[in-house]
Amino acid sequence: MRFDIVALFPLAASAVNIISSNDDGWAEANIRAFFESLQAADHSVVVSAPAENQSGKGSKEGEPTVLTEPCQFNSCPSGSPAVGFNSSEPRLGYVNSYPVTAIQYGIETSGPKIFNGAPDLAVTGPNVGSNIDIVNYFSGTVGAATYAAQNGIPALAFSSASGSPTSWESPRPAYSEVYADLATNLTNQVIAAGKPYLPDDIFLNVNFGKVTDECASPADFSFVLSRIHVAVPLITDDDVTTCGDSRLPSELEVSLASGCYASVSVGIASEKKDADAEMQGVVLKKLGNLLTCLS
Ligand SMILES: *[C@@H]1O[C@H](CO)[C@@H](O)[C@H](O)[C@H]1NC(C)=O
Ligand SMILES: *[C@@H]1O[C@H](CO)[C@@H](O)[C@H](O)[C@H]1NC(C)=O
Ligand SMILES: *[C@@H]1O[C@H](CO)[C@@H](O)[C@H](O)[C@H]1NC(C)=O
Repeated sequence: MRFDIVALFPLAASAVNIISSNDDGWAEANIRAFFESLQAADHSVVVSAPAENQSGKGSKEGEPTVLTEPCQFNSCPSGSPAVGFNSSEPRLGYVNSYPVTAIQYGIETSGPKIFNGAPDLAVTGPNVGSNIDIVNYFSGTVGAATYAAQNGIPALAFSSASGSPTSWESPRPAYSEVYADLATNLTNQVIAAGKPYLPDDIFLNVNFGKVTDECASPADFSFVLSRIHVAVPLITDDDVTTCGDSRLPSELEVSLASGCYASVSVGIASEKKDADAEMQGVVLKKLGNLLTCLS
């Protein structure tokens, strides 16, 4: 009896089931660092990401195929099955197809097997490279997140300014750890604000600035609410009012500002466009004091 009570405790904390994908490939350092960071925060995480680098593939979908060459960074041999997983860590899975197909497989098949149900939340990235403004239309990181959000799984897309493609087996770059920690902070904040984690068809597009000598640790960074697209004067509707302004800075503006920032935009998944002021307001309330103003 006592044993039962102890076993229930982890559930009382806000541990949730998270499906994770990217477009850089399942063996890239960033997704592995994020996997470990989310696990360290007590979440149940399943990775379902492309077997190869599928950067820039947007929202393409395609039947997974048998590998005709090794997986990225030799992480599986040529001839491996169309979908597979790490035999010593079955939570790490690949799908030999596009990012959208990879996350779809995670949501429908590999995730439920381990979660005993649907994922509560989807995360993608952190992408190697920023996904800002119109680049979002071509991004597989954003494509996978918007697929999840359109299929009832609240989704957060993470991208980052620093770094280059790195194998999971290489020494872990410092920026991977910083971005993983920041992404976990934001994820935890979204979870802590309660269900529904995000409104229907809404996703968050998060871009981390460069990791430098000045911006070297997670504590150096501030999150700023932003817009995906640069607003057109007199045409674009007002944004939610915050920081004394009814116009949010664009992701581009935040990326160019001096300081250590992460931009957080509220997007409509089915359109990859900015959400309206009301939806931005829902997210503003949820993120609360995690957000600061751009100075
Ligand atoms: C598979 O998981 C094991 C144990 O975590 C790890 O040592 C190995 O590097 C992983 N390989 C791949 C391709 O993920
Ligand atoms: C994937 O390919 C793109 C363009 O072909 C390249 O810019 C990027 O660095 C590659 N990423 C990885 C993880 O190999
Ligand atoms: C993220 O969490 C780390 C501790 O895990 C903390 O040092 C850092 O200040 C947090 N960053 C933000 C922006 O909340």
